[in-house]
Amino acid sequence: MDLLVAPSILAADFACLGDEARRVQDTADWLHVDMMDNHFVPNLTIGLPVVKALLTATTLPLDCHLMIADPKRWAPPYAEAGAHNVSIHAEAADDPVSIARDIRAAGGLAGLAIKPGTSLEPYLDILRAFDTLLVMTVEPGFGGQSFIADVLPKVRAARSLVQTGHLKLHIEVDGGVDLDTITQAAEAGADVFVAGSSVYGADDPAKAVTALRERAAGVAAD
Ligand code: DX5
Ligand code: ZN
Repeated sequence: MDLLVAPSILAADFACLGDEARRVQDTADWLHVDMMDNHFVPNLTIGLPVVKALLTATTLPLDCHLMIADPKRWAPPYAEAGAHNVSIHAEAADDPVSIARDIRAAGGLAGLAIKPGTSLEPYLDILRAFDTLLVMTVEPGFGGQSFIADVLPKVRAARSLVQTGHLKLHIEVDGGVDLDTITQAAEAGADVFVAGSSVYGADDPAKAVTALRERAAGVAAD
């Protein structure tokens, strides 16, 4: 199983995002971009114009995490623009499957994100409409928070569905991922690791990405 590390530009210098993306381009797998609308979460970040600009500034596949109240309106345009993966929040979507269909039709991978307090069970039947399950390991809204290990049973449950052949799915963790916590997430079965502060807070972000992947590989099951 390939283990993917996705630095989150939420922790980068917003005054020079192109440069910040290129700092990790040689070692990262995806670049994680957090959209926040000050409705779904109490914070405001960036939107489609900045993603379009980033697409011209880096060759990294963009992993767009939409923490927004109206994913039906906004998710497909990110895929149309060229985003690699577009994740919507289950809590914000009346009909997540139709949005996933629209994202896929526009050429993107479709992701379903769930907050720490959201259980996986109600969504098990629709996971086959998605390519990625994003399990939040902090409350969405801000970088730099502590990893919530209590959510890892959701990662384990999803991994066992994949292992038994019922699903093909990336299992992504987002929030508080660093050299310590990544081992727990990898052992539980995650294969995509978002890391903001632990990458962009490091002296050498590119090396920090490699170190995270190596640490995860040391404990991940095949
Ligand atoms: C939080 C965001 C995360 C955030 C992670 O709402 O979804 O992607 O950037 O940042 P760290 O790694 O600092 O917790
Ligand atoms: Zn995120």
